[in-house]
Amino acid sequence: MKIAADAILRSEQAAYLDGLLSPRDAVASDLEADAAQHDVPIVDPEIGRFLEQTAIAIGARRILEVGTATGYSGLHLARGLAAGGELVSIDVDPARQATAMQHFEQAGVADRVTLLLGPALEQLPTVTGSFDLIFLDAIKTEYRQYLDLALPLLRTGGVVIADNVLSGGKIALADEHNETLDAIRDFNTYAMSHPQLLAVILPFGDGLLYAVKRDPS
Ligand SMILES: C[S@@+](CC[C@H](N)C(=O)[O-])C[C@H]1O[C@@H](n2cnc3c(N)ncnc32)[C@H](O)[C@@H]1O
Repeated sequence: MKIAADAILRSEQAAYLDGLLSPRDAVASDLEADAAQHDVPIVDPEIGRFLEQTAIAIGARRILEVGTATGYSGLHLARGLAAGGELVSIDVDPARQATAMQHFEQAGVADRVTLLLGPALEQLPTVTGSFDLIFLDAIKTEYRQYLDLALPLLRTGGVVIADNVLSGGKIALADEHNETLDAIRDFNTYAMSHPQLLAVILPFGDGLLYAVKRDPS
């Protein structure tokens, strides 16, 4: 079992927490195995669980995801939806979305999922209606633009979650620079001080930004 939090938590703590996670069901396990085999970057199992928990806790009826991949995070989000709810998920990769849809069908949640195929910066402006939860997990250098495009669609009290915001712990190393790291640093600063958001960064998985949209009044 991969311990992705190794660089953020000490390895023995990460292993301990990993050991507490209950085994996943057949569909989630199959997606984990497929991701390991084909090198698909999916969220860690505890993040999957956290996404499902959050959707349930806020009674999410509509969820917007940027970065479907093969549907691992989407499976958890779809399972957390309230009855009659909808997950709208965007990705540029048709083969990954086809794998995702196969697994949504196996899990019995395909009727709750709408997949949008294309670059997120082109697809997001076409999305309409109100959302309860937004999950960002595609191109890290575009996170700030995803947030700007998606935030008007989020209801007050709705939640924004973004994955990989600690980049395996490298984000805090002042001498480490590349386009992605610098873009995530910029995104973290932007989101943490955004006047419409009440945000924290949670140091588990690969680091999660977790923000609630404030009441504008
Ligand atoms: C980290 S993976 C998403 C993992 C997924 N959320 C999960 O945990 O199961 C990022 C995905 O973003 C997609 N992607 C890359 N460029 C994109 C773009 N411009 N617009 C939308 N998706 C993009 C990739 O095809 C990839 O599947």
